[in-house]
Amino acid sequence: MSAKHDAAHKIEELRAQLRHHEHLYYVLDAPEISDAEYDKRMNELKRLEAGHPELITPDSPTQRVGGKPAEGFRKAAHSRPMLSLDNAYNEAELRDWDRRVRELAGNLPIEYTAELKLDGLSVALHYGPAGSGGARLLTGLTRGDGQTGEDVTSNIRTIRSVPLKISAAAIEKLSLPQTLEIRGEVVMPQKAFLKTNEEREREGLPAFVNPRNSAAGAVRTLDPTLVANRGLVFFAYFLLVDGNYLAAGQSATLDALTALGFRVNPHREKMHDPDAMLKFIHNAEQQRSTLGYEIDGVVLKVDSHAAQQRLGYTGRAPRWAIAYKFAAQTAETAINTILWQVGRTGKVTPVADVAPVFVGGTTVSRVTLHNWDFIERLGGLRSGDTVEIERGGDVIPKVVRVVKQSENALIERITACPECGSELERTEGEVDWRCVNADCPAMLRETLLHFGSRDVMNIEGLGEAVVAQLLDRGLVHHVADLYSLTEEQLIHLDRFAEKSAQSLLTEIQRSKSAGLARVLMGLGIRFVGERTAELLAQEFGSMEALIAASAEELERVEEVGPKISESIHAFFARPANVHLVESLKAAGVNMTAEKKRRTSELAGMTFVLTGTLPTLTRDEAKQKIEAAGGKVSGSVSKKTSYVVAGEEAGSKLDKARELGIPILDEDALLALLAS
Ligand code: IVH
Repeated sequence: MSAKHDAAHKIEELRAQLRHHEHLYYVLDAPEISDAEYDKRMNELKRLEAGHPELITPDSPTQRVGGKPAEGFRKAAHSRPMLSLDNAYNEAELRDWDRRVRELAGNLPIEYTAELKLDGLSVALHYGPAGSGGARLLTGLTRGDGQTGEDVTSNIRTIRSVPLKISAAAIEKLSLPQTLEIRGEVVMPQKAFLKTNEEREREGLPAFVNPRNSAAGAVRTLDPTLVANRGLVFFAYFLLVDGNYLAAGQSATLDALTALGFRVNPHREKMHDPDAMLKFIHNAEQQRSTLGYEIDGVVLKVDSHAAQQRLGYTGRAPRWAIAYKFAAQTAETAINTILWQVGRTGKVTPVADVAPVFVGGTTVSRVTLHNWDFIERLGGLRSGDTVEIERGGDVIPKVVRVVKQSENALIERITACPECGSELERTEGEVDWRCVNADCPAMLRETLLHFGSRDVMNIEGLGEAVVAQLLDRGLVHHVADLYSLTEEQLIHLDRFAEKSAQSLLTEIQRSKSAGLARVLMGLGIRFVGERTAELLAQEFGSMEALIAASAEELERVEEVGPKISESIHAFFARPANVHLVESLKAAGVNMTAEKKRRTSELAGMTFVLTGTLPTLTRDEAKQKIEAAGGKVSGSVSKKTSYVVAGEEAGSKLDKARELGIPILDEDALLALLAS
């Protein structure tokens, strides 16, 4: 045997040993050898690989930290959208959900799997064939907007509970292909969170407010060597092949993930009814403070794959799963002072600066007070007052009541804008005080931040620090100025180098194609939020058509009434706003959208009918679907939204199952049409 062959053999042996011990340590929490022994073998492997660099493979345990600093993240489409979950906040809502599930599932038997709702960020991991058999980690994507995520592979690789390689034996035993996708949650344990914040404090950086933000920050760090020290943990909960969930159901999926070497959260249970769910939820709440990581509820999933498909999806969430959110948590703390924040529309919002307090999994030091009337209803506030604050689910913390008044004087309402000094005004009948100075720097700052935010033009890198500098240096006077920024100008900003300047410019360029709905939102017209902007864009198709629309035409759009149409007209009656739109257009910002004939929920969806429905004829079903804006097609493909199946459904139903397309019976179809 040659020396090289010997080395190759020894290398494979060491890798197998190290993988085994990593699995014991990071996944099962049950190490069998000392850290020193582990390090010894790791060093031996490093030494051998250094002597034979041609034998290094990306799935070797030495390759967690590639050390290759990323230059921003590539975007990549998900194999199937990463959706969110609908919420239930109490027993009644949970029982309602169970009832709906059973109604829609028809005669299919229903069982549930309960899991903890881990408070982290969801990621999708793609594995592909490894040279030596088995599967190796190819890419790791963040959820992003649900359709496309960011390729954060180099950071995901540093998470020790993410196997770089899945063994051939495990894959074969489960009869799985070598190409697999695993989805789950990356969380930061509380200890690691506190340590991260201590370090940030030492470095003079602002603290993260909660472990989830901290984990998200870590996963998106550009230097993998930093991420490696963040103590992140990955819990797996979905297994997909070709974008489809495992046919065996959720509980079997979790077993399979365990067998493949993933860390699966041990707090899970299969059950039949809401009583058992409530018991599980109660136990989870009891254990919450001793888990070592944050959870914000319990996720309940219909276990069977067939029933999941029957139930299908609403736009944003599966009908076959629900998140039960824990009730609000409360704490007492002391008021330091009241801060006044000027928003994008000039609205001035009072915010309580309080002594930092840990509540509902987060350190709270700022609590909104909504408006001056709210403070008066609390009986006024004094610095030093003890107040009760509450935080529930994804709700922003709020002050509930004053527990104990201090001796200090009442804090008074401000009468001038804290940013530009103009006198604040309040319209009859409204609660908010506003700065009406159109040139107030705060408004421009907030408008820019809003314009660049993820749900609007999605300009990554246009955060508070950058915006503040752009304004300070007089580089931007209105949002359209963003499009004439140059590398030369950006390179001189703090913490900017050639790369970061270029990537911000690329992002700005990219935002030009965001489309009419996003631009409309970005303009910040009062009452025009995401949904309204989308409906307006679909109705009018271009900015010109929208600007020219009469009140009557505007109000033909779903959800647009006189209040919104007046606000739109008032906005475009101001020359400065018309000028802004013209400048955006001149900069090449796309302000068109595809016009929709109907703005219905079913618009764009394709249905395939198969078998005999209990009451509707084929034609009646077709008419109903088309009347609601949907299309009916004769054959099932990946693009099919739903297959409606009745008695004696044939091969189309099989095809739908194969492709993982939701299947409806007549009742479910009627329910969908009615919604
Ligand atoms: S299932 C359709 N299971 O909660 C996919 N999600 O509010 C839904 N999450 O984006 C995901 N723990 O990030 C699922 N055991 C769990 C979870 C979980 C936490 C997160 C996930 C998702 C969010 C939805």
